[in-house]
Amino acid sequence: MLQEKLYQLGFDRNQDPHDEMDLEVSGVIPEWLHGSFVRNGPGLFYIGGQRMNHWFDGLGMLHRFTFQDGRVRYKNSFIDCHATDEALSSNELTYSEFATDPCWGLFGRVSSMFRHGPTDSAKVNVGKVGDRYYALGETTMQIEFDPETLETLGRYNFRQPKFGTSSTAHPHPTNSGAVNLITKYGPVNFYQVRKMDERASKLASVVTFSPSYMHSFGMSEKYYVIAESPFTVQSIKLIAANRPFIKNFKWDKNRGTRLWVVDRENGKVVHKAEVEPFFFFHFVNTFDTSNGVSFDIVTYPDAGIIEAYYLDAIGRGDRGIPGGTLKRFEISIGDPSRYVEETLSATGMELPHMDTARYNMNPDYRYVYSPSLASPDSTFYDQLVKVDVRDKTELTWREEGCFPGEPVFIPAPESSAEDDGILVSLVLDIQAERSFLVLLRADDLSELGRVFAPEPIMMGFHGNFFQKQRA
Ligand SMILES: [Fe+2]
Repeated sequence: MLQEKLYQLGFDRNQDPHDEMDLEVSGVIPEWLHGSFVRNGPGLFYIGGQRMNHWFDGLGMLHRFTFQDGRVRYKNSFIDCHATDEALSSNELTYSEFATDPCWGLFGRVSSMFRHGPTDSAKVNVGKVGDRYYALGETTMQIEFDPETLETLGRYNFRQPKFGTSSTAHPHPTNSGAVNLITKYGPVNFYQVRKMDERASKLASVVTFSPSYMHSFGMSEKYYVIAESPFTVQSIKLIAANRPFIKNFKWDKNRGTRLWVVDRENGKVVHKAEVEPFFFFHFVNTFDTSNGVSFDIVTYPDAGIIEAYYLDAIGRGDRGIPGGTLKRFEISIGDPSRYVEETLSATGMELPHMDTARYNMNPDYRYVYSPSLASPDSTFYDQLVKVDVRDKTELTWREEGCFPGEPVFIPAPESSAEDDGILVSLVLDIQAERSFLVLLRADDLSELGRVFAPEPIMMGFHGNFFQKQRA
């Protein structure tokens, strides 16, 4: 019954856009909180008579909660892009999504790919690159938006060769903007680190025989870290096989996860190794050590989590969802046979967050915040966990019937301690049939207040808080 309601409210529908409105609040909203929390995720799973197949398919929607003087205003909007505009105007899906293709006839896929290219529904993440705000997706098209009106202002596009290119939705901020990892498919396949500048300048390039599904990569002060899980594709299939993007990827039981460590100074590979196989979506933090580089990452023994996120599987809810394990890998540069793999938390989690603005690439960082699973039977993320990666202690926040999304850390003004600030998480409450933003103290996860959304909001992916300077 509960699973049925989670599926119905969280996934199996479309979300309506709303104009600016004031929201009801309870408890305490810190006076110093001044800016907008913007969360990205699916807003449309049904188009015409077609329902999408997978959680990652839904066409993107932005939800904006603006805090000012203890008041909270809300607005949500579909990401204005070609894929959504065409779907809404023609009432049919015309672009290929992650695990759903339009209803094509024979040869339709090839003709449609030449007509449209990949989807531009940048539904995964939001981030600031220089002065610009972007909705970020896994194709090469990123959508610049206005954080006040949520209107599309422009596009950023890595160039597109014939077989296709994908990018991660997790660029790393740098002093001059950001860098991202793209995968170029073709007779020869490349992973490339590129700047998000006008020319998408190439910083590093690695050749691979069978490209893997890449959702993020690591960056320390000195190195880029590229991890290639054994969930790979023969790239010819992306153009020739009549299947949606992710259905062309297969788990190869006969190999491990490959790692490339690339020197950021000159773009040269300084270390190549194969470790025990794991699948992952998210690097959490990457930092230099005395003899190499370490990275914290949420891993799975295989790519079964992709299957678990199909809408039919979520709807059935007949088994616990696989939980990601937070691990640390310590790499000794130049010694491929030597590495240390350590479990930092046994609590199943996904959509991890940390204080990236202050502690990215910092070996002294301590805290990871994430939606997680209260028990092995949990069919979706039903609690928040805070992991102290140094002391290996954990705190949790949980409420019956509530499914929290990614907790975003916002530091308190002039805070010095890493966890002096608040966490903001958009929670779906299936008993009350509504969503609320919960505001927690980041140090002890005690609740400060809630902001009630006008209706239940579908389960989504990443968000960010964009601070606004006081006038
Ligand atoms: Fe992600």
